[in-house]
Amino acid sequence: MVWKVFITREIPRAGTDLLKAAGMQVEVYPEDRPIPHNLLLEKIRDCDALLCLLTDSISENVIAAADKLKIIANYAVGYNNIDLPAASRRGIMVTNTPDVLTEATADLTFALVLACARRVVEGDRMVRQGNFTGWAPQMLLGGEVSGQTIGIIGAGRIGAAVAKRAYGFGMKILYSDTLSNKLMEDKWGAGKDELERIICDSDFITLHVPLTDSTYHLIGAKEIYMMKSSAYIINTSRGAVIDEQALVNALQEKTVAGAGLDVYEREPILAEGLVKLENVVLLPHLGSATQQTRSRMAGMAARNIVEVSRGKPAPNAVN
Ligand code: GLV
Ligand code: GLV
Repeated sequence: MVWKVFITREIPRAGTDLLKAAGMQVEVYPEDRPIPHNLLLEKIRDCDALLCLLTDSISENVIAAADKLKIIANYAVGYNNIDLPAASRRGIMVTNTPDVLTEATADLTFALVLACARRVVEGDRMVRQGNFTGWAPQMLLGGEVSGQTIGIIGAGRIGAAVAKRAYGFGMKILYSDTLSNKLMEDKWGAGKDELERIICDSDFITLHVPLTDSTYHLIGAKEIYMMKSSAYIINTSRGAVIDEQALVNALQEKTVAGAGLDVYEREPILAEGLVKLENVVLLPHLGSATQQTRSRMAGMAARNIVEVSRGKPAPNAVN
């Protein structure tokens, strides 16, 4: 039986090539936008494997429409877009793409650390608008990065890769997680502490937890108001880990110095007032967006499908 694979949007060829080489029948949603819900319901009906994106909501009713589905390969490390218990109940394997995007996401996190603190985007706007009239002693003074304290919330692969970079900047590294990360402690000198202590003590707070019921609004109004007024918060994980409207309020009132956001609570919709703020750097969810990383993610998602089609365990199963 030839396996039918449905891919919800075009991904790098490394993925589709692998599936085709394994003799699979591959169909890709041809439009360059998220697939409409009704079409997804129709397409999922008779495919053996679904390769989907973080923008596709694979809810219980989508899963219920699948008659032959054996695997959902998410083209992302985060899989909060998939109803995992519903998939598990029907014996459908769910896989993600860990490791291959760790360095790229940590790089982008540091791009935001530097861009916020050193006012890179404001400076660019100033120059383009013709407002750069010469070097000035008080112009666009930002916060120092080197030697400052960074609080890493979530010490998984990406959090540890951020610690590695922070170590290079001579930063004091604090982290919070349910488990200790020996690598971070031994190699990068990171110290584990309580979330609240880290929020109070850090000059930069950066979030690297998955979005789950227990991390939803992990950083709410109360936590935001515990931050130093000179501190910055960076989010390259999932938008809903921060109460975005509470953050906007704090940025407006300048109780925090700035924020660097790659993800939003209701992507691609932004909280009211966010775009008007000067003290934020806003990116369109680019964490894993390099040619190399996206190719590796495509290959990894496809490899999971191929293995499962051969009756082997999925290398990156999350259920
Ligand atoms: C990106 O946000 C991912 O989860 O891979
Ligand atoms: C994701 O890869 C993480 O564990 O941070």
